[in-house]
Amino acid sequence: MCAPEHFQVTYAINPWMDPANRVDADRARVQWEILRNTYLSLGHRVDLVDPVAGQPDMVFAANGGLVVGDRAYGAKFRHAERAAEGGAYAAWLTGRGLQVTEPEHTNEGEGDFLALGSMILAGTGFRTSLQAHIEAADAVDRPVVSLELVDPRFYHLDVAIAVLDDGNGDAPADIAYYPGAFSRHSQRTLRELFPDAILCSPADAAVLGLNAVSDGHHVVLPAEATGLAASLRQRGYTPVPVDLGEFLKSGGSVKCCTMELHR
Ligand code: ARG
Repeated sequence: MCAPEHFQVTYAINPWMDPANRVDADRARVQWEILRNTYLSLGHRVDLVDPVAGQPDMVFAANGGLVVGDRAYGAKFRHAERAAEGGAYAAWLTGRGLQVTEPEHTNEGEGDFLALGSMILAGTGFRTSLQAHIEAADAVDRPVVSLELVDPRFYHLDVAIAVLDDGNGDAPADIAYYPGAFSRHSQRTLRELFPDAILCSPADAAVLGLNAVSDGHHVVLPAEATGLAASLRQRGYTPVPVDLGEFLKSGGSVKCCTMELHR
């Protein structure tokens, strides 16, 4: 995670962002600390990346890269406003002893790459390019399934799909997704790969309910997504709601603030 020291909405690169809608920095800090403490209380380790002045979106650590095993694929941001984050995150990943592939193609890390079982689900349409999907497959040595995003509110894959179980334990891979975020052929891909997936309602998707982090048991998700939380409970998961309202002003929530190191 990366502390929201410099978090603000000073530019608009997605439909959620409006610089006139001021962020309450104190409240953002408290919300972020609660998320961090939630992970700690669930028994997870949280490492911190140093925030960089002038990079208000760096708090969204998911975008800094994709880590699978001891391999990492660095990020190359679509918009100039976030470009400097790429090097900062790559340096951090390298410092951890990971084998980092420097990207040639535009991609926003775990914002658009979700590790699941032996494969990677990859989003394209707004931020990450299709060429980057191929580059990522090589970088982390996993097959990639490309999915096309079509609704600008859901500009990253991690606001359109929540990985509930990565399928690496005893249970099979399990996801929740919002079909309306995807093109017709990608909806079909998802139906065929995940016939039993939880389908998220437009209302729960619109509060970024799918921007969740799961350890296969506990699903940390935005508190406003009450319908999704009920579906999760029904399926045997324990929803852990957190309020990240200040980050919603930037189009981000739980998962965006979290880079998962898939070891
Ligand atoms: N304001 C940021 C942007 O538009 C939000 C990034 C959210 N991150 C994510 N993983 N979905 O780039």
